[in-house]
Amino acid sequence: MEKIVILTGAGISAESGLSTFRDEGGLWAQHRIEDVATPEAFARDPALVQGFYNARRVQAAKVQPNAAHQALARLQRDWSGDVIIVTQNIDNLHAAGGAVDVIHMHGSLDGALCAACGHRWTAPPEMAVGEPCPACDAPTARPDVVWFGEMPYRMDEIYDHLAGASIFAAIGTSGQVYPAAAFVHEAQAAGARTVEINLEPSCATAGFDDRITGKATKAVPQWVDHLLLQRI
Ligand code: NAD
Ligand code: APR
Repeated sequence: MEKIVILTGAGISAESGLSTFRDEGGLWAQHRIEDVATPEAFARDPALVQGFYNARRVQAAKVQPNAAHQALARLQRDWSGDVIIVTQNIDNLHAAGGAVDVIHMHGSLDGALCAACGHRWTAPPEMAVGEPCPACDAPTARPDVVWFGEMPYRMDEIYDHLAGASIFAAIGTSGQVYPAAAFVHEAQAAGARTVEINLEPSCATAGFDDRITGKATKAVPQWVDHLLLQRI
């Protein structure tokens, strides 16, 4: 049974109305990473960091999954083997589009994490600074997202999936952030055929066997149709 491993990035949610990071006018053009997305930033100015993620949580709650999220859910349902979706996104649009068992390697806006004891729980729509942890009562609640300099979640599991992949696809990611940017090489070492689906060539494009250039809402459903038709 052929296993497909799919890595998604901000580009797959762009047409749902969520900003990417590095495109023109993206989130990192409006905010400095070191002000809002590092443990040091949270220690220095928790109100600024909570405010950044509260705004993103409000925005993410307003948007709907698009045809690309839905096509990947369809692939999971109709493919004869496993389809593993690993996302760098912290929105919940894959699940809202019908996907199951999505691996959120950079965490989730829906989660809160205690910086003191590691307890995790569902985040309120607006997280307050100094909110107490329900497990240890320390005033150290933070968004359950992975910041720069921290270790992404579920890496052992992801590398196991990559080692068993027959097909690897990277969708809507600029390939600038590691370790996700190196997954294509892991998959290739395991013998997988690799494809990049992106609006434009990324800095990682040369490392892929195949490239599909176009908007995710058009290119991903077409790619899924192609894969499923091949197997009939
Ligand atoms: P880094 O060394 O700061 O951190 C990389 C590590 O942090 C990796 O393990 C990565 O997976 C993890 N990480 C933590 N939070 C993350 C998040 N929210 N999103 C993605 N990964 C997260 O980063 P790096 O490897 O030196 O840089 C990767 C890219 O990030 C750079 O190419 C650059 O585009 C960007 N970056 C920019 C700045 C800046 O503009 N000041 C700072 C750091 C990183
Ligand atoms: N369809 C397909 N691709 C698109 C679309 C679209 N409609 N819109 C944008 N893209 C592509 C862009 O061409 C770009 O290559 O999506 C990519 C988005 O890249 P980034 O903004 O760098 O986002 P991503 O790769 O997900 O960032 C990785 O960086 O700061 C961290 O936590 C952040 O998880 C994120 C990580």
